[in-house]
Amino acid sequence: MSTYDLIVIGAGPGGYVCAIRAAQLGLKVACVEGRETLGGTCLNVGCIPSKALLHASHMLHETHENFEKMGLMGAKPKVDWDKMQGYKAETVAGNTKGIEFLFKKNKIDWLKGWASIEGAGKVKVGETVHETKNIVIATGSEPASLKGVTVDNDAGVVVDSTGALSLPRIPKSMVVIGAGVIGLELGSAYARLGAEVTVVEFLDAITPGMDGEVQKQFQKILAKQGLKFVLGAAVSEVEVEKGKAEVTYKLRKDDSEHEVKAECVLVATGRRPHVAGLGLDKVGVALTDRGFVQVDEHWQTSVQGIYAIGDAVPGPMLAHKAEDEGMAVAEVIAGKHGHVNYDVIPGVIYTTPEVASVGLTEEAAKESGRKVKVGKFPFMGNARAKALFQAEGFVKMIADAETDRVLGCHIIGPNAGEMIHEVCVAMEFGASAQDIALTCHAHPTCSEAVREAALACGGGAIHA
Ligand code: FAD
Ligand code: NAI
Repeated sequence: MSTYDLIVIGAGPGGYVCAIRAAQLGLKVACVEGRETLGGTCLNVGCIPSKALLHASHMLHETHENFEKMGLMGAKPKVDWDKMQGYKAETVAGNTKGIEFLFKKNKIDWLKGWASIEGAGKVKVGETVHETKNIVIATGSEPASLKGVTVDNDAGVVVDSTGALSLPRIPKSMVVIGAGVIGLELGSAYARLGAEVTVVEFLDAITPGMDGEVQKQFQKILAKQGLKFVLGAAVSEVEVEKGKAEVTYKLRKDDSEHEVKAECVLVATGRRPHVAGLGLDKVGVALTDRGFVQVDEHWQTSVQGIYAIGDAVPGPMLAHKAEDEGMAVAEVIAGKHGHVNYDVIPGVIYTTPEVASVGLTEEAAKESGRKVKVGKFPFMGNARAKALFQAEGFVKMIADAETDRVLGCHIIGPNAGEMIHEVCVAMEFGASAQDIALTCHAHPTCSEAVREAALACGGGAIHA
């Protein structure tokens, strides 16, 4: 048994990044992980495998829909599902092994097993109690359950996101419960792979919290790709008979009950913090009313020397938010200054086209009592997007009408997830829309649309 400066519990993007930064700052660090591989939800059953499937299905769609338009003729490829799963697994393994390498490089001990906290400074793994000056809880999240619905990932009929990433075969039909990020990313991937996908959503719009205009356009684009939407519908039950599922939902507007059958049902109705088994009540670590670990502005819990970050604490459940908190809390523990700017955390949905946003939506900016101006530019006016057959979206920039300061930006278009970062940097520097409008952007790039939206906040876009 050794004594550590820091034991991090959980090796997801929050935990492993925290461990690496703390080691770089000279602390003696261990990280406990109960999974067989490092990287957490994100690398194993989240961001990375889902993006592999999204990429492969996007490629298939390109060969089927767009190759001939570009004069690329030939037999259209068919899906070898096992091989596609193999590509996904290799992508995951390459990344999880990369974290193992980084742990060795930074002399971080990987304590294998499930941890519980015995008290401040005491972490139990297996039968061993390890002593440490500080503890960081980075145990992440797990799929939330839905009343009346039993998930069985092994059977592959009613699954959560983990099961949906490893289905035994591509289903002919799929019902997705929940039009949030997981439902739309995986739903659109399976639609491109040939499944008939119906999305049943409780609210009257998809992707709650997103800018209203983006929600509408995004739904239109996905509907054109073949996804069917049932909005304002609460799922009450899913029954499985002979390997097929029947989903019962009630329309909220008139309480009428309906059924839809499918070979596979993906339950994607949100995630909840994963803190079971840690023994937090015994130690006195307080939770919020929604079960998240309660922390102060330095990520310290109600017990001194115990910190928490990532999906286990309130805030957006995003890998990059967890990473930022991981770095910042390591700095705090090392006696330095750690900071996360929660106003500038981008959110990206990796469908085709991608949807990306940062800062305030138009609705939120107006609700805050500010006078706002909105600059919008459609990708129809962008030469590069047209060549990519992805010109249906737009860039929408929100700026303060009095100061011109950029308050938010929302993009639906090709590579939106890459493009959003210039706005993030601009916002970090307190830039005005005019600052972006006066910045030379290379031609022909999709990023020119960001500049055009900034121009539209002032004198007007050129190509609109
Ligand atoms: P996690 O990644 O959940 O890691 C926590 C780790 O702690 C786990 O490995 C767990 O095994 C371990 N652990 C838990 N309890 C214990 C214990 N007692 N002892 C030892 N180990 C323990 N976010 C994005 O930003 N971009 C995306 O594209 C994206 N795609 C996603 C796709 C899917 C399908 C899903 C499900 C999520 C996706 N997310 C994405 C969200 C992202 O995965 C999470 O926000 C992120 O992983 C949170 O990081 P974390 O470190 O807080 O926790
Ligand atoms: P979510 O919170 O994004 O969406 C859940 C949806 O389900 C909501 O629209 C909600 O109204 C709906 N819903 C809830 N109960 C319902 C019911 N009974 N019937 C019908 N609809 C119902 O949650 P999701 O998609 O499960 O994702 C969880 C988290 O994972 C998200 O918070 C997200 O941050 C993260 N994630 C991020 C990704 C990214 O950054 N690209 C990709 C995937 C996940």
